[in-house]
Amino acid sequence: MRWRPLHLIVLPALAGVASLIDTAPNHTPQDSIGFSRVAFAAQSLTFPDGAATSSEVCGKCHKAIYKKYSEGFGSDLSWPSMKTAPTSASVLALPAGTSGSATAHAVAGIDPFPLDALERESGGKQCIVCHFPQPFDYPELAVRKIEKPAARNENHQAGITCASCHLTPDGRIRGPYGVNAPHATVQDSAIQTSVACAFCHAEGERVISKQTQTFFEWRDDFYLPGLGRQHCQDCHMPKTVRKLAEDFDVPERPSARHLWTGGHSLQRTRGALALNITQPDKGSDQVLLHITNIGAGHSVPTGSNRRAVYLVAQVVGNNDQILATREWMFAPWFGNRPDDRAFLEADKNGPAPIGAGQADAQGPHETIIRAGEARVISWEPKTSHRHLSDAGVADLRPQSLQ
Ligand code: HEC
Ligand code: HEC
Ligand code: HEC
Ligand code: HEC
Ligand code: HEC
Repeated sequence: MRWRPLHLIVLPALAGVASLIDTAPNHTPQDSIGFSRVAFAAQSLTFPDGAATSSEVCGKCHKAIYKKYSEGFGSDLSWPSMKTAPTSASVLALPAGTSGSATAHAVAGIDPFPLDALERESGGKQCIVCHFPQPFDYPELAVRKIEKPAARNENHQAGITCASCHLTPDGRIRGPYGVNAPHATVQDSAIQTSVACAFCHAEGERVISKQTQTFFEWRDDFYLPGLGRQHCQDCHMPKTVRKLAEDFDVPERPSARHLWTGGHSLQRTRGALALNITQPDKGSDQVLLHITNIGAGHSVPTGSNRRAVYLVAQVVGNNDQILATREWMFAPWFGNRPDDRAFLEADKNGPAPIGAGQADAQGPHETIIRAGEARVISWEPKTSHRHLSDAGVADLRPQSLQ
């Protein structure tokens, strides 16, 4: 008499998982840094290519940070091949020579998933401004509406570069310290707060349950109500103490790990939700599945409508046979209303015919689980037995997932 723990499977909504990509990293920076070791001409180094400056340029001096960014060193990131098409179509894979554990920011310009979506949905039109933005100023914490960042036109291959996040519109490098460096720096303590991520991780105004709302979800559901004090960086960029530029005569300082584990890290996704099962009435077959957001400072899943979390529940008999099974999908809405098949025709003439159509074709599904929320789903498993108790299920112990 037992219940198998519920399985939580995290998959990009449109992706079929095939094999892991077996490639060797080729992003290792050159050994010779080509700059004077200690005596640098303060602030003489400039970055005329702006946000299009390849991260290798910064990686020549900031070696450890670059290694994390480009190879995911010190994380469990992995990029299974994925699909946006029927299983008969070929699998999308990162280009050969890319580290299979690179960070999402490093591969944003070569990740086949958004590139393929861009091609199919906008005929190649540059809709993905957040994937390749110009340098920007941070919004206020209380901002009501987030405008799309301005797009950069060059070097999309380089993805979200170091300069995308660190370069200010006037060409200086923002950081938490205001140190003396070969390039101009500007101390900005806001870089340690969630506004540093807001421009790309939110768009428009707050709409509960919609996609591209991560910053608002964090601010309105988690931070302001007092559920927690952590900013994005505290969870997604944990710190260590080390030199920021290895070959220079500088002291060790707290340094944030540039890893940003998210949907490509099992370690990360496992920490998000807790699961419990209760049976309110021993005489009835109804069970309640409690799904609690204990680990994320925003909704789960968050961000793009293309990503979903699946909950699969099974009743397992004594001989390991599966007596009943059911699946629920949790995903953000594409727009400001629940996905709904009734809108499929109207979607064809809307601003995003393919994306909106795909979202509405999903039909009704569970909305995303907000920060701190405990969702309760009722289930009456139908087995071939008249009652669950006839099937041999005598006791229901709550099972929680790691
Ligand atoms: C020629 C070597 C070199 C290059 C190239 C270089 N940096 Fe630096 N950078 C340094 C040194 C040295 C420091 C000072 C470190 C310290 O004092 O701990 C520094 C400091 C920083 C800081 C800390 C700023 C602060 O005040 O908090 C940031 C952020 C930074 N660099 C980002 C970048 C980015 C982004 C690029 C590429 C666009 C880049 N660096 C290119 C050498 C370099
Ligand atoms: C310049 C735009 C931009 C900024 C700023 C930015 N991100 Fe991202 N982020 C992206 C894009 C685009 C992706 C998706 C890339 C892809 O999968 O192709 C992404 C992906 C992620 C992921 C998912 C990782 C995964 O493996 O699935 C996490 C987590 C993340 N970002 C956290 C952050 C945090 C925390 C900050 C602030 C410190 C931040 N980002 C700032 C654009 C940005
Ligand atoms: C997605 C945005 C993003 C990208 C891309 C990014 N950084 Fe950072 N970086 C940050 C944030 C945010 C902080 C401050 C973290 C904190 O202290 O909480 C930071 C901090 C730093 C610092 C200062 C001290 C520290 O925390 O290590 C250096 C130096 C630095 N980054 C260099 C780089 C280099 C080099 C690259 C490219 C290989 C890079 N960054 C890419 C967001 C980014
Ligand atoms: C209290 C810790 C915590 C804070 C604060 C936090 N996150 Fe997360 N984040 C998580 C956890 C846990 C997950 C995994 C669950 C999930 O995928 O939704 C996650 C996942 C993500 C993902 C991946 C989404 C996906 O579907 O793969 C992105 C992007 C992200 N966070 C961005 C942010 C940004 C931006 C902020 C700040 C506005 C932030 N996070 C604040 C814990 C946190
Ligand atoms: C407001 C900024 C923003 C805009 C505009 C935007 N994206 Fe994204 N996109 C992101 C961020 C941030 C992520 C990663 C985290 C998440 O899911 O929020 C992402 C993730 C994705 C992913 C999933 C990547 C993966 O590896 O899981 C695809 C595909 C994608 N975007 C395609 C597009 C297409 C196509 C468009 C134009 C219709 C677009 N995006 C417009 C910010 C944006």
